[in-house]
Amino acid sequence: MKQYSIRRKLELAFGRAIEKATGLAGEPAGVMYASRPEFGEYQVNGVMSLARRLGAKPRDLAQRILDRLEPQPEIERLEIAGPGFINIQLADDFLAGKASSLLGSIEALIPRTDTAETIVVDYSSPNLAKEMHVGHLRGTIIGDCLVRVLERIGHHIIRQNHVGDWGTQFGMLIAYMETLRAETSTQLPTELADLEVFYRAAKDRFDRDPEFAERARASVVKLQSGDLEYIRIWKQFIEESLKHCEAVYQKLNIRLTRDDLKPESFYNEQLAGIAIRLEEQGLLTLSQGAKVVFLPEFTGKDGKPFPLMVQKSDGGYLYATSDLAAVEYRSRQLQADRVLYVVDARQSLHFQQLFTLARLAGLVDDDCNLVHVAYGTMMGKDGRPFKTRSGDTVKLIELLDEGIRRAFELVSSKNPQLDEATCRDIARTVGIGSVKYADLSKNRTSDYVFDWDAMLSFEGNTAPYLLYAYTRIKSILKKQSDSDFSSSRILITEKSEHALIVKILQLPEVLEQVAEDYYPSHLCSYLYDLAVLFMRFYEACPILKAETGTRESRLALAAITAATLKEGLGLLGLDTLERM
Ligand code: ARG
Repeated sequence: MKQYSIRRKLELAFGRAIEKATGLAGEPAGVMYASRPEFGEYQVNGVMSLARRLGAKPRDLAQRILDRLEPQPEIERLEIAGPGFINIQLADDFLAGKASSLLGSIEALIPRTDTAETIVVDYSSPNLAKEMHVGHLRGTIIGDCLVRVLERIGHHIIRQNHVGDWGTQFGMLIAYMETLRAETSTQLPTELADLEVFYRAAKDRFDRDPEFAERARASVVKLQSGDLEYIRIWKQFIEESLKHCEAVYQKLNIRLTRDDLKPESFYNEQLAGIAIRLEEQGLLTLSQGAKVVFLPEFTGKDGKPFPLMVQKSDGGYLYATSDLAAVEYRSRQLQADRVLYVVDARQSLHFQQLFTLARLAGLVDDDCNLVHVAYGTMMGKDGRPFKTRSGDTVKLIELLDEGIRRAFELVSSKNPQLDEATCRDIARTVGIGSVKYADLSKNRTSDYVFDWDAMLSFEGNTAPYLLYAYTRIKSILKKQSDSDFSSSRILITEKSEHALIVKILQLPEVLEQVAEDYYPSHLCSYLYDLAVLFMRFYEACPILKAETGTRESRLALAAITAATLKEGLGLLGLDTLERM
């Protein structure tokens, strides 16, 4: 049988009551979380606007709806409030029964989509000419979290790591390689740390030496036209760079493998065809020798449309061209129902142009949904994009290592009795978890300030707080195994038990929300609230000292809280610890 979340069940029940009261089918009841706990748990908000449309008095309409509502086991108390809200308080019996059914497995808290889609998720997607830097953190972990959630609720996910391996920068690297070879007998650097230095030297030359810049540009064209020697050198750069990405993914516990790679170069064969088709459709304009598309929807302040460049005057193709080929591949070959592009908000114009043009040119099926899941920039404390003191970009791997190092200091100072190896283990989970959680818990679309002290704090909505709460619960449960609860029943005698259980049962609603608007921060806030409510329950209700029956019930409640926390943290991509 289909599992509905409480909110969805209430929405459906009130929808039927509205239909009976007004004869109108499909009207949204607008069931929301109550704005204050004394109102109960949920609130029906849709009556007022409906009454306005029907010319009825809202409170009268609310009463007519209540008169026609079928009895709901979930509901303890209903009340019409204010201008025509309906407040809903949930019933202890219902909550206790539901909570008891979760003992042994909380699988029933996972919402299952009834319309499983094929969803392509493009995330991480670094450029391979340099090492991954902090700018790649957000896209990588937000994408990873969305993949976990969407997959868990039953969608078919295809990961696409659209790495940049085909642009001007590679022409520059190859040209620099050739130049060094001619001038000295330098070998290709063997470590990416060196490649970073190599990249900077090449870039420096590119900026200073116009003749070299010209050769660099010619080299991309030669590479893109398949010159064998160029391809050979290029492959070595790519291989070095990928090894480095893999080290980052491993450290971050990101589920991207070589199978998920669809680099820009993968679309090379398609690029000429894309340009030809756009030309045939009359969409291309020549602008200073380059082939561009002007879409009237996207204009600057001066009213002139922004160009989307498809082919440069020297024949080279661009970022946008590979993206046009990629979007067609995703729709037509991968049969995507939805494509999510988890990419920096600063590329917003690019994606809006891309999506519009792809539809105009018929590159995607009409029912293929294209979404730019944009994210804001990670800032330093000075309010500018996060950089080192000297103004260089911070390498992602170094940032992660620093997180682990700081977590180690924290953990070892809190637990002087722990041996070093154990501390290191814990520090890895806490350090990486803190960096990830600090990011995921922020509003996705806003810029945020990266702050070590805040993210490693044991207070507030942080990874250490949640991981620690989890270990606390586990230590209460230490002497129990899951099977000990199979015959337990959860009872509600205290308000704090009621509140905690309501929260647990709301997990499916939060996951549905994340799957709908792609903000991992909903899940973070939820887990934080859950941990806070557990702590309140723990302070208000003795567990181990309670009398038989109550004791088992409270232990069981602690067990499902722990399982819910673990599930939620897992979906964010965080590991839990048994002790810390
Ligand atoms: N490589 C690009 C960058 O680092 C991001 C690619 C995002 N995906 C895409 N299909 N354009 O900015």
